[in-house]
Amino acid sequence: MTGPAGVLRVNAASIDLATVPADERLLDTVRWRLGLKGTKEGCRTGDCGACSVLVDDRTVLSCLTLTHELEGARVTTIEGAPMDPELERARAAFQRAGALQCGYCTPGFVVALAGLLKERGTAATPEELLDGLQGNLCRCTGYAAIARAVAGLSEAPP
Ligand code: FES
Ligand code: FES
Repeated sequence: MTGPAGVLRVNAASIDLATVPADERLLDTVRWRLGLKGTKEGCRTGDCGACSVLVDDRTVLSCLTLTHELEGARVTTIEGAPMDPELERARAAFQRAGALQCGYCTPGFVVALAGLLKERGTAATPEELLDGLQGNLCRCTGYAAIARAVAGLSEAPP
């Protein structure tokens, strides 16, 4: 726990956990309680990566996480990109590469890529980063454009 007891921070907001049911998933807290619809609901079983968010700078599947487990933590969703350098860098790379079709999977990919950048730093190769995105699925099969986005990360300022 890094923040105050009884509270969860999401981007710039704070939630009083006393107002959240004990069995509520972080995905539902983010999407329905806070209205942050950038985080997507796909499988709800941990198999698609669409619901990825950052918790204290590590990628977490929000569909498998109880909100109450995160007391004192800091959650960053795709909406927090302007306040997070790695998230903004990943977002910009996807935008430059035009790496989306329907876009449903895109926030999850961007968040997961940002988590890898935080974990591995600028030394990670595009191949290593792509390998780290294996848990994210794109039902439009836009993987070639996603690979271009990852390869183009170096075009953005670190
Ligand atoms: S909705 Fe969480 S992994 Fe698919
Ligand atoms: S762009 Fe449609 S699911 Fe990936």
